[in-house]
Amino acid sequence: MINEEVRDAILKLNIENSAMDHIMKIGEGAWHNVYKIERKHEGELVLRIRKKESYGQLQEYNEIDLITEYESSKAYYHQANQTSFHICPLFFDYILEESLAFTVESFMGIGKKLQDISHSESFVIGGKLGRFFKGMHEKIPEIKGFGNIIWNGERLEGNIQQETNLIWQHDNDIYLSILNELTNSDLKFDRKKVVDKVVNIIDKRRKSPQKISLVNQDVTPENIIFGLENVSLIDPFPRLDFDLKYAGYVVFCYKFLLPAYSNAPRYRKHAYDQNSKIMSRIADGFIKGYIDNNEKLQHRLLEDYVLWVLLETHEHYETLNESELNAKTLQQMGDKEMIKNRLSLCLRELEKSI
Ligand SMILES: Nc1ncnc2c1ncn2[C@@H]1O[C@H](COP(=O)(O)OP(=O)(O)O)[C@@H](O)[C@H]1O
Ligand SMILES: [Mg+2]
Repeated sequence: MINEEVRDAILKLNIENSAMDHIMKIGEGAWHNVYKIERKHEGELVLRIRKKESYGQLQEYNEIDLITEYESSKAYYHQANQTSFHICPLFFDYILEESLAFTVESFMGIGKKLQDISHSESFVIGGKLGRFFKGMHEKIPEIKGFGNIIWNGERLEGNIQQETNLIWQHDNDIYLSILNELTNSDLKFDRKKVVDKVVNIIDKRRKSPQKISLVNQDVTPENIIFGLENVSLIDPFPRLDFDLKYAGYVVFCYKFLLPAYSNAPRYRKHAYDQNSKIMSRIADGFIKGYIDNNEKLQHRLLEDYVLWVLLETHEHYETLNESELNAKTLQQMGDKEMIKNRLSLCLRELEKSI
């Protein structure tokens, strides 16, 4: 199990007391092979070795992209641990070489699998996550700007540097233009109901500007360690974007998106559809933790949930209109038949009232 790459990484780290029999593989995502290193007098560490191949494709070594990814994780962990002690690895570092790229970080334990979490536990876990995300969103990010985070050679910054109000109005405009496109399509759905709902949401939303925060775009269960006492968050994909919008995104992922994607090749092995009740309960707990008894906030959060469904509907519609699907889309979304079926799920969800 312990291969040349792991030996190489250990040598580079110069870790003492790390006899190779104290290293074991504990996980694997799409991008990293993950090992735990036990040390004699210090805490356990995790080594995440970058795979050379992901989703069946050889990955070119791109140093700026890797610095961007790992520096973003570091920044997220730093802010997270100021918000809620030890929810993320306290220690995080990385080494980049063309032949070997890896991170080294605190071990956050082995979590429960989704199917082993009870109904009541799910709600408590969701609550903890909700309170954490609220705290995270309330902090002023150290990284300036908006949008995708990039490494500019010296530090991280958002790829959009514009006045916040302009960004906010643009964010709202996008939903209306998407709505317009869907309304003029040949799709079958209750146009009046959907248009009234979205227009009403956007009218109100424009007048309640949200705050730019450091948000996480990858909140899948594989990146959350459901411990007995604590819940931990690893492998974030941070971005600078609006707070409530991304609270809505967590709810959207757990109540709709992940179960709906469970037939796509990329997600099939996770069988989210079989755990959709647990995931939905996690989302319920999340809402409660996030809103902290503020019913107006809950309403606005659920309105942003609707907007995520609208975006997803549009993405499916556009993808279906492409003459041929590329390998990445086939992996992530499935074939045209699956996309068509999911598009109808999206439309039915849009028609529901909130
Ligand atoms: N710091 C950590 N502590 C404990 N387990 C971890 C840690 N980092 C990763 N893992 C385990 O390894 C798995 C894959 O790691 P991850 O970093 O998410 O890989 P990828 O970047 O490929 O998605 C996780 O689902 C988790 O089980
Ligand atoms: Mg992961």
